[in-house]
Amino acid sequence: MSFPKIRMRRLRRSESMRRLVRETSLNVDDLVYPLFVREGKGLKKPIKSMAGCFHFSPDTIAAEAAEVAELGIPAVLLFGLPGKKDDAGSQAWAEDGVVQRAIGEIKKAVPQLLVITDICLCEYTSHGHCGVIKKSTSAQEHKSIVDNDATCELLAKVALSHAQAGADIVAPSDMMDGRVRYIREALEENGFHDVAIMSYAAKYASAFYGPFRDAAESAPSFGDRKTYQMDPANARQAMAEIALDIEEGADIVMVKPALAYLDIIYRARQRFDCPIAAYNVSGEYMMIKSSAEAGLLDEKTVMLETLTAIKRAGADIIITYFAKEFVKS
Ligand code: PBG
Repeated sequence: MSFPKIRMRRLRRSESMRRLVRETSLNVDDLVYPLFVREGKGLKKPIKSMAGCFHFSPDTIAAEAAEVAELGIPAVLLFGLPGKKDDAGSQAWAEDGVVQRAIGEIKKAVPQLLVITDICLCEYTSHGHCGVIKKSTSAQEHKSIVDNDATCELLAKVALSHAQAGADIVAPSDMMDGRVRYIREALEENGFHDVAIMSYAAKYASAFYGPFRDAAESAPSFGDRKTYQMDPANARQAMAEIALDIEEGADIVMVKPALAYLDIIYRARQRFDCPIAAYNVSGEYMMIKSSAEAGLLDEKTVMLETLTAIKRAGADIIITYFAKEFVKS
């Protein structure tokens, strides 16, 4: 008997054969589409830093949400750009804030579409940090630092106001310690037992958020986010972050960004049994968009390869600016 020349290739002979043995398949059910809502009227304005994405106003966002629902995407993730900013970010919990109004409009038009809201202060504070600033008394720290517990109190107010407006899931993205507990408590005390928490549990201090910070006008005016977001060099610490958020009441935990952190998604999948989300962030999106624009990559194929890799690593839910394009592809 001669040694078999063909072995692994037998199962790759045709598209039908490849489909039959495929281990990972992407599904529209896995996707969440982020949307930006800003103060104004009649807006659908292209975002310069993020090709194919738009700023909507509360009165135009329902039409976009309806299109998303029509495509079969189960959820949107809302980010708000307020009309005015202040030191505490008070527009974030205003009853008539942009996100609060947008939730109402979306729920009126497409009640079945899940509305997830980003819970953070950076888009709302004049200094662009994700929380309240206090003076540091330690020589080791920057002279201004983010006050952990004071920020958690405000985040709980933001989450509650989103729940009151009709949000299905609130998603704290600030990385303060203990914020999931503050939020869960505020929701419970006010009867919002059914509102779920998707925490940005392992969120890294990443430069891949660049295009988003432009889009959300949320870049910090001094310093960086390294005293609250995670150091990209750490993996075991991510497991500790996730464990804490689950203990505090998170229903879904997220790893962010996704692509440079596939090992974190994989480890989280091995270790925890709750749904795991991964955020395919703005910089990852724009790397593909701009390479395709320059004629270097085939956009559709690279998009599919990327999203499949995130799913293969273990993500149940993928938050991506490609969601609509994926469905249309
Ligand atoms: C708010 C927030 C950010 C992103 C999601 N929520 C920016 C940041 O932390 O600076 C980034 C999303 C993206 O890059 O697509 N804190």
